[in-house]
Amino acid sequence: MVEHPWVVALMRAWQRFVLALATFGVTMLITANSLFTKSRMSHDNGITLRGRLSIRLDPRVPDHEFFVPGRSFDCRIRHGAASFKDDAKLVVRSASIKFADTRGRAPFDILMNSGLMPLFWNARTFMQFMFRSMQGKGKHYAPYLGRHPQARIGGGSSVRRDPEAPNQMVYRTKTTSGFIGRDGVLRYVRYRLVPQGFVGPESGLPDAWDRDHAWLQNPRGDEDRSRNYLKDATRRLIESGKPMRYTLQIQLRLPPPDETVQPEWVSSAVPWDETTFPYLDLADVEITEALSHREGMLTWFDLSHHPASLPIPPARSIDDAHSLNHLRLAGIWATRARLLSYRLSGIPKPFPDSRRAPDWQGVPPMADPP
Ligand code: HEM
Repeated sequence: MVEHPWVVALMRAWQRFVLALATFGVTMLITANSLFTKSRMSHDNGITLRGRLSIRLDPRVPDHEFFVPGRSFDCRIRHGAASFKDDAKLVVRSASIKFADTRGRAPFDILMNSGLMPLFWNARTFMQFMFRSMQGKGKHYAPYLGRHPQARIGGGSSVRRDPEAPNQMVYRTKTTSGFIGRDGVLRYVRYRLVPQGFVGPESGLPDAWDRDHAWLQNPRGDEDRSRNYLKDATRRLIESGKPMRYTLQIQLRLPPPDETVQPEWVSSAVPWDETTFPYLDLADVEITEALSHREGMLTWFDLSHHPASLPIPPARSIDDAHSLNHLRLAGIWATRARLLSYRLSGIPKPFPDSRRAPDWQGVPPMADPP
């Protein structure tokens, strides 16, 4: 059925209005949360490191004004976990790279999580997930996961339990962003960070039970290591003079010919076939220094840090795959609120090692620490 142009225009305007409303609502909630809890809305648990990033391009990567072979940057990388303040929980792990050794502004930031696909793939599913998180996580996720089998697959793919070191895991951006080469062609891209010399399997991969029950995130019943075991091990590794080395890689493909009709593969729920769209080397990353707790807390990553030639495609509705990045761009207000809360009443102390400390949070239905 062919719709009248003004019906189409009206529908599009309505969709944009709903997206704007949703963005406003989500941003208000996460900003208030960061201000009053003095925490990152997500990935509050983490360690920040410093090193050097050198562009080393696979010849198949199209010429690009930012990714110039031989160019190098001082950089920061933060290895985090979403969420909870306990390294031994069954959680999504992360690597965020800043192409500068600064707390904030930088020419480029890339935020990546473990696993192939996330637990949500547009603003609509993110809001449903967020609502369940606000209810208390754990068993409260069950209705959302029941309704969206894809979210269950994403959760199972992304969580890691008891990894031995951050440089034994692989991290991916999952959402698609843009790449405009010197040829002027816009391509869609995804990035991945892989430890050098790593042949797999990843440390901390969930077993079949954890994969199916990724919302039951408590440490194992006999867990007796510190809540900070992974951050401590990372610091020890770096301070013993052993740098962590990674390769940053990129996947490229042409965007759909008609942006208003998005094929399934634009969604972060659909990883691209790696034979047809191989990950190509982009840069070497060498991490040599662990930063202080204070410096880590004051470091922030933001999707708006990118050159014009690596754009974030705009979103049109809450069902548009790009709406996730649209929400994340507005999430800068939550970051600002977090940093403001530190200025007003100080930087929160590092998490205690003990699960008996009052800030330790159990996951319903397992309310007590193991
Ligand atoms: C697939 C989608 C997503 C990925 C891969 C992702 C990844 C990450 C990572 C790795 C961090 C930690 C950054 C750090 O170490 O400081 C983070 C933090 C954060 N994310 Fe996401 N995220 C996603 C979706 C979203 C969405 C939809 C929102 C909604 C607004 C959001 C809002 C935030 C906020 C507010 C922070 C904390 C910022 C701060 O206080 O510094 N993220 N995310």
